[in-house]
Amino acid sequence: MTRAAYAHQVTNKTTHALELRDVTKRHGAGDTAVTALDRVSLSIPRGTFTAVMGPSGSGKSTLLHCAAGLDRPDSGSVVLDGHELTDADETALTRLRRERMGFVFQSFNLVPTLTVAQNVALPLEFAGRRVDGPQVRGLLARLGLGDRLDHRPAELSGGQQQRVAIARAMLSRPAVVFADEPTGALDTQAARDVLRILREAVDAGGQTIVMVTHDPVAGAYADAVVFFSDGRIVDSMTRPDPASVAARMARLSTPVPQGGNVPAAPIRQGGVQQGGVQQGGVRRGGDVR
Ligand SMILES: Nc1ncnc2c1ncn2[C@@H]1O[C@H](COP(=O)(O)OP(=O)(O)OP(=O)(O)O)[C@@H](O)[C@H]1O
Ligand SMILES: [Mg+2]
Repeated sequence: MTRAAYAHQVTNKTTHALELRDVTKRHGAGDTAVTALDRVSLSIPRGTFTAVMGPSGSGKSTLLHCAAGLDRPDSGSVVLDGHELTDADETALTRLRRERMGFVFQSFNLVPTLTVAQNVALPLEFAGRRVDGPQVRGLLARLGLGDRLDHRPAELSGGQQQRVAIARAMLSRPAVVFADEPTGALDTQAARDVLRILREAVDAGGQTIVMVTHDPVAGAYADAVVFFSDGRIVDSMTRPDPASVAARMARLSTPVPQGGNVPAAPIRQGGVQQGGVQQGGVRRGGDVR
């Protein structure tokens, strides 16, 4: 490694948990190809909570998959916790995911035959790492599940199951927790509990979280919202409130006329740096919604 490359990595380790540079990802080929990510640049500082929002099909899940090494970009760079993912082979990516990333999904994805405590310990066991029983119990107690350690997922409410999934994602103190619609299957109260827990993990625990959501109330729990449209970041908002997020989303969901302009955000707004905002809102061929 050159001295400059090393210095770059060290800088990344201290400032950004995740950095995407000019990431492009196409799905399919030929006339039916879809550009799901179009030269997306995004820097997520450590210990911040970022919401990713945008209309259906705008590229949010593709972004999460590329950021987590589940999908390979066609071009560009993804650096997670100082590690370049686009150079890594599958074995290295699996290890990085186990050791440095946590995942929370809309559908909880708990193992039905295991207890709450066993589900939470599972990723560490897969990674061959020692499981600290008191740590598992302490974490679950903090999430209001201290009396549910030996229950199976089917014996829990949706909100409780999602809290188990959050404990599972956070036990190893990963560099980034990726959450794709974590409140999508929950009622209002359970969703609020989950969002408060995520917020608390950032504020008290210094966790870094990247969350995809459709819900302006959920987005407002984040430090910053990044808005996607047609595979591009078209805006960002720091210290978001539900009404402003909803208003911005409503404008994004309205088709932009050919050649129309989407207001550009400053290159740096508070916590989250973003790029690719001056590209306007022109639709590209093959990406019809
Ligand atoms: N495996 C795939 N093959 C072909 N096209 C795909 C594939 N995955 C995603 N796409 C397309 O890429 C674009 C972005 O999809 P993506 O799933 O990232 O959107 P999204 O913002 O997560 O949408 P939603 O809010 O509905 O989950 C869409 O046009 C989608 O149809
Ligand atoms: Mg999606």
